[in-house]
Amino acid sequence: MNAQDIIALKERGLAEAAQAATLAEIEAVRVKYMGRKGLLQDVMDGLKSVPPEERRDFGRAANELKQELTALLDGRKATLSAAGKAAGRKQFDVSLPGAWRGLGTRHPVTQVIEETIRIFSMLGFTVADGPDIETEYHNFDALNTPADHPSRDTQDTFWLDGTTLLRTQTSPVQIRVMERCKPPVRIIAPGRCYRRDTTDATHSANFHQVEGLYVDRKVSMADLKGDITFFAREMMGPDVKVRFRPHFFPFTEPSVEYDFSCHVCGGSGCRVCKHSGWIEISGAGMVNPKVFNIVGYDPEACTGYAFGMGLERIAMIKYGIEDIRLLYDNDVRFLGQFS
Ligand code: PHE
Repeated sequence: MNAQDIIALKERGLAEAAQAATLAEIEAVRVKYMGRKGLLQDVMDGLKSVPPEERRDFGRAANELKQELTALLDGRKATLSAAGKAAGRKQFDVSLPGAWRGLGTRHPVTQVIEETIRIFSMLGFTVADGPDIETEYHNFDALNTPADHPSRDTQDTFWLDGTTLLRTQTSPVQIRVMERCKPPVRIIAPGRCYRRDTTDATHSANFHQVEGLYVDRKVSMADLKGDITFFAREMMGPDVKVRFRPHFFPFTEPSVEYDFSCHVCGGSGCRVCKHSGWIEISGAGMVNPKVFNIVGYDPEACTGYAFGMGLERIAMIKYGIEDIRLLYDNDVRFLGQFS
């Protein structure tokens, strides 16, 4: 072997390196020429038998083989791995599922509102609305609630100034509807209410009620009981029972509070109903004739019933939620369970 052979060998090596299309092929060329048992090593082994006058050229050719081939292989390697990375970034696996953003779910209280509207619309009720910022007149006076009534106390009501407040109940919507419309009226009014309650497992300073008002000729307590019972069965299931207890509200006469039998234990008593078998829903009664006088309805010509219900309470017993605060923490892991 002489210097010419080495140059020819170098040319072959460079050609093979230039053709190598993958990192593995480049590595194979490197091993073939420059590995421990590679062709360059054969060349070096042959150095001993080269005549002294040819050694210089022989050595230089071997050196060039090593340097040029190494440089080309390194360059090819760098180009190929950069291209590989870029290709890897662009690779798109069409069989992968897409990045799914959850659709969201309706809040349990919203679901109860919508269900309440559905049920009462079957009975011919339409939906009415009123402002959250109410006048003292609509929230109290027109509802026959005297100035010394405890609910008017600053401890119980968020007053904005001397005559406006955050409504403590949806009952002022009764007044607004009767001011606007002649009888007969049949409305429900779901909405937000505010009281200066300290928050705990069953109290929240803002909460929701749905008001109901039905005024016509000869509306009776039997209509009230029948309609509330119909609602209870639709909302909670066919086996629920409704119980009416005498109570007092300034704007209804007579007044009742009503309870649903506990749907968790079926009325036999459990933790949810505090072992009474019943769960208090809210108040109702026959519209007080004094209220009819205030809004300009003839108390001789019409009768009516009104009711209010706490919507969080219904959501809590319907979905088995033990703490009202869970409804307002805005934790979607919790809220998403009720769709
Ligand atoms: N507004 C009353 C309350 O918040 C409930 C109620 C509504 C009572 C309608 C009678 C008639 O407690």
